[in-house]
Amino acid sequence: MLSAEDNELITRSGPDTPAGRLLRQFWVPVLLSEELPEPDCPPKRIKVMGEDLLAFRDSAGRVGVVDPVCPHRGANLYYGRNEHSGLRCVFHGWKFGVDGRCLEMPTMPADSPYRDRVRLKSYPTREWGEYVWAYMGPAAEPPPLPRLAFALVPPSHRYVSKKWQDCNWLQCVEGALDTTHFSFLHMLLGTEEAETAEAVMERIKHAALGAQAVRNDRFKWVRDDPMPAFSVDEFPAGLVVGGARKADGDDLYWRIAHYLVPNHALAPSAFPGENYHGQTFVPVNDTSCWIYTYTWNPDRPLTEEEREAARQGHTIHAQVDEHYVPYRNLRNDYLIDREDQKRNSFTGIQGVSEQDAAIQDSQGPIADRTREHLGPTDLGIVRMRRLLLGLIRDEMAGRTPQALSHPDEYAVLSGGWVAHKSKALDEVMTERFGNPLGYVGQER
Ligand code: FES
Ligand SMILES: [Fe+2]
Repeated sequence: MLSAEDNELITRSGPDTPAGRLLRQFWVPVLLSEELPEPDCPPKRIKVMGEDLLAFRDSAGRVGVVDPVCPHRGANLYYGRNEHSGLRCVFHGWKFGVDGRCLEMPTMPADSPYRDRVRLKSYPTREWGEYVWAYMGPAAEPPPLPRLAFALVPPSHRYVSKKWQDCNWLQCVEGALDTTHFSFLHMLLGTEEAETAEAVMERIKHAALGAQAVRNDRFKWVRDDPMPAFSVDEFPAGLVVGGARKADGDDLYWRIAHYLVPNHALAPSAFPGENYHGQTFVPVNDTSCWIYTYTWNPDRPLTEEEREAARQGHTIHAQVDEHYVPYRNLRNDYLIDREDQKRNSFTGIQGVSEQDAAIQDSQGPIADRTREHLGPTDLGIVRMRRLLLGLIRDEMAGRTPQALSHPDEYAVLSGGWVAHKSKALDEVMTERFGNPLGYVGQER
């Protein structure tokens, strides 16, 4: 559990909060690139960590993320005209570039001092992995982008999406690191055939990929051992979180996730040849967030069937409407089917992502961590909180997170493996990925 003070400290992300200042030292995704589909397309309202902003793509294809309030008389630039190389306020014609500079000020005399002085607040942007990222921090020179593995593969090898969630971003991070819950939340009922909904999809898609990939035993192991033994290794970009369940004989079945500071998590499911999944959690405000969700395969392009499955809300993706809001959400009780809950699945809710959302939202708009009773299977969550609170306290003391100078360390893979019970987490990772951290980037 956390004290009430620490729960406030770790969950609040506004510009005047310590965690908000910490998050702003890192690049955060603020849009899918497809939301600004072409030069001079309509601007898009966005809200990031409590800040109302406007994103637009100029004639050269560059993306601006700016304060939407026109500095002349406060009209909202959302109604602006996205013209040749700038966004023009339709009230009196002031025009702004993606960097916030005022390019034209037709109502002011030629010698007005405002011409050099007036700017819109703007944040640097980059497009990376088919997301628009913004740097909302204080440094004049933004840090390098995190070299997340999904963004290093060609676009043909990945599928990216985003989904709305009605709770504080941190309980979504915790849900991603809590690999224990697979023994219940995502389980289908039944006897020997019991499999998670996610597992069924993965098995069907990868049935041709060899013995290791189709070992359905892993789903039996997940079902039969709800108390995995956790090990956590720390490295400059975050944590490797391994949960080991009893397998057959002297083997353990490991499901290994990553927490990458401050707001990324990689899923623990992939065996060699299978698709990898990850998520980046970005607060909209303190009681809702966008989850940027990615699936990729380092070895081959994704098939059209896999893309369609993601669009339909399989694996880690949600089935969303045109505003990226899941069809099954808090406002309709996730379309829970009590009959299905009796007969087929633990939740009666369709979709792994929607099952996660239902239960994370149910913890409250901001989960009250003062009332918890944590045990050994919550070790990954405990270590993540400790690391994040440490970074927040560092921020309050003026110290810079070391992860900012280690962007290459983000190039890691998470996944599953079966290993003899004598093996420690770093040995299992080395067997699975050839590296104790799952590193797949350039040689260090
Ligand atoms: S309010 Fe925008 S130009 Fe006047
Ligand atoms: Fe889950």
